[in-house]
Amino acid sequence: MIPALAGQDWSGVLDVLPEPGYVVLPGWLPAGQVAELRAELRALDAAGAFHVAGIGRGSAQQVEQRIRGDRIAWLQADWPAAAHYLALIDSLRLALNRECFLGLAEYEAHYACYGAGSFYRRHVDRHADSADGRHGQRVISTVCYLNEPGWPADAGGELVLHPEGGEALRVVPEAGTLVVFRSDNIAHEVLAAGRERLSIAGWMRTRD
Ligand code: OGA
Ligand code: MN
Repeated sequence: MIPALAGQDWSGVLDVLPEPGYVVLPGWLPAGQVAELRAELRALDAAGAFHVAGIGRGSAQQVEQRIRGDRIAWLQADWPAAAHYLALIDSLRLALNRECFLGLAEYEAHYACYGAGSFYRRHVDRHADSADGRHGQRVISTVCYLNEPGWPADAGGELVLHPEGGEALRVVPEAGTLVVFRSDNIAHEVLAAGRERLSIAGWMRTRD
């Protein structure tokens, strides 16, 4: 383990993930690391590593565009900035296993780029179709924002969480904010942004 990672204090996250099932951590990732990830994202995009995101098996791309409009690239362990991010999140996965016995075996994550006007309609991350082995066992969702500091108040692009029986919560995609929530029961959506919106979205999964 990278020594600095041992110092991550996840107790506030562990306390609230069962109920209400979500937590927002503004300023979680230091600006320097956000900048490194953003630079890596941009270099990968320039190199053609991104593709239009899908929503599951079998749906036509046209249908998907009406549901989500982001472009994505799955994180690879040999991308340096991504590897550091994966190590940070892995310390949360291990804490959840240790303290909450969730049996989270894996973490998958992608860079996401929403162009101006793109959105992601309301959904839950655990796919109902568990025959799709890739996604059937998603337990915990994470999103971290990689925008330049100072996301304008009128730029849209908020993540809106819709907890069951609770009030909706709007999260501004400010650089370095980490959002962690349950994949099974927290519906959420991404509102259309007036400008490019950069993030890493990821999911902890049990083994199939
Ligand atoms: C997703 C998602 C939220 C966000 O990729 O499944 O809900 O704020 N992303 O980018
Ligand atoms: Mn989602």
